[in-house]
Amino acid sequence: MLELNGLSKRFGGNQVLQDVSLKLDPDTPITGLIGPNGSGKSTLFNVVMGFYVQDQGTVHFEKQQLDNLPPEKRCHTGLSCTFQDSRMLSFMTVLENLTAIPTPQLGESLISTFFARGRIRLEESKLKDRAYEILELLHLTALADKPAGSLSYGQRKLLEIGRVMMTNPRLVLLDEPTAGINPTLIQSLVTILETLAQRGMRFFLVEHNMPLVSQLCDRVLVLDAGKLIFNGTAEAARNDKQVIEAYLGSDSYVNT
Ligand SMILES: Nc1ncnc2c1ncn2[C@@H]1O[C@H](COP(=O)(O)OP(=O)(O)O)[C@@H](O)[C@H]1O
Ligand SMILES: [Mg+2]
Repeated sequence: MLELNGLSKRFGGNQVLQDVSLKLDPDTPITGLIGPNGSGKSTLFNVVMGFYVQDQGTVHFEKQQLDNLPPEKRCHTGLSCTFQDSRMLSFMTVLENLTAIPTPQLGESLISTFFARGRIRLEESKLKDRAYEILELLHLTALADKPAGSLSYGQRKLLEIGRVMMTNPRLVLLDEPTAGINPTLIQSLVTILETLAQRGMRFFLVEHNMPLVSQLCDRVLVLDAGKLIFNGTAEAARNDKQVIEAYLGSDSYVNT
């Protein structure tokens, strides 16, 4: 579904991505992207989402070339939006944070506002239904009317994932979703990802916690100094000489 060809990106004299090509297969529910700190994982995601422009290479999603689309248009193709610029608003309620997501809905156009009030109300109630369904899944229903600012750090991260889900994406990119959240919430996150994956949503996941990668990811890609050095199962990655060397040569480590 996602296809990257020959992606390169440099910041000044720092070659951060070097000729990265990969394909995500729709039959693989969760693909992991791992690699030492600074190996270019977040940069790769930022290029795919359109937050950074690559120096070379192309990004295709389900055969559509995305390179000339700004980030906000990319989410209308079914790729997730991570809303880097429009962060969660702490004074709005949890529910409002979900329903305020710009989905390609009827209410956006003035003409349809004028001619189709009834349809817009219908759209709004559908949006609310979807928001409540997501809150249920995230175990946040009881907090629907609380200001988002009152949530714990971990709950806020779940809400951010909820905001991504509102656009009903087919592929979601998650960059270290478990960073800084407690073990109980990590377990609910795992259940949520597994449930959504079963329903057909696909994930591309950067994650440091190796037991979690082994548990969740059907396939793992490894970046080292901006190059893809491995593509296979998590089990095989752990035993791969090049992967082990990449981690040993860095200040990161593989949690086992
Ligand atoms: N906006 C930026 N400007 C300059 N350098 C950057 C920028 N973003 C990332 N880098 C550099 O790119 C390299 C890879 O960073 P990153 O993609 O964040 O790695 P990872 O997510 O794998 O830890 C690092 O050396 C980092 O300093
Ligand atoms: Mg990163």
